[in-house]
Amino acid sequence: MTATLLAKIWEQLGAAATSRSPFNFLQLATTGLDGAPQLRTIVLRRCDAVGGTLSFVTDMRSPKIRELRNDPRIALVGFDPAASVQLRLSGVAAISDDEAERLEMWQSLRERTLILFDAPHAPGTVLDDSGQPLQAGEPSDEEPYARFALVTVTLNRLEWLDLSSANHVRCAFERQGTTWHGVWLAP
Ligand SMILES: Cc1cc2nc3c(=O)[nH]c(=O)nc-3n(C[C@H](O)[C@H](O)[C@H](O)COP(=O)(O)O)c2cc1C
Repeated sequence: MTATLLAKIWEQLGAAATSRSPFNFLQLATTGLDGAPQLRTIVLRRCDAVGGTLSFVTDMRSPKIRELRNDPRIALVGFDPAASVQLRLSGVAAISDDEAERLEMWQSLRERTLILFDAPHAPGTVLDDSGQPLQAGEPSDEEPYARFALVTVTLNRLEWLDLSSANHVRCAFERQGTTWHGVWLAP
């Protein structure tokens, strides 16, 4: 039954959003401003199985934010090496402007994450050997909270691939309004 597998996927994503588990780190793909694919690791921060959304946090100044504003379509992939399972996800990202939601996430972050937003230079700024920007320009003096971006992805497809037994299992779920339609696929 695909419904049993769908419940398992959301259960694992839910666990990953709250604890160290295989899908806690996901690789996030966006379309670069030049059209080339861009890929990086992010930490899954929130999972809403009812709404079918996932959230992560990032620096508002990071290139991925410009990319998402230009084209909000994203893909994510996770891999559980112990279970030999790959989870592929795709959807549409939105940068939250809901202050209550932003503040709730900000207040849930640990100190070691919050200090990342203290960085005066935008992620990807080219630095010299002493850590100063090569190009002249004022570092931003805005509050760390202003640099904080909460990104929520509304998923439209989930795909599970389990290679743990001789009979490989592959299953895809497409969003249909508020429900999901699952089909088995040839691996
Ligand atoms: C284990 C790990 C977790 C990471 N988590 C995040 C994250 O949650 N958010 C984020 O913006 N970058 C995270 N990064 C850094 C990104 O992979 C990336 O290098 C950075 O965000 C710059 O990406 P961009 O230039 O595409 O915007 C993480 C990197 C690693 C290795």
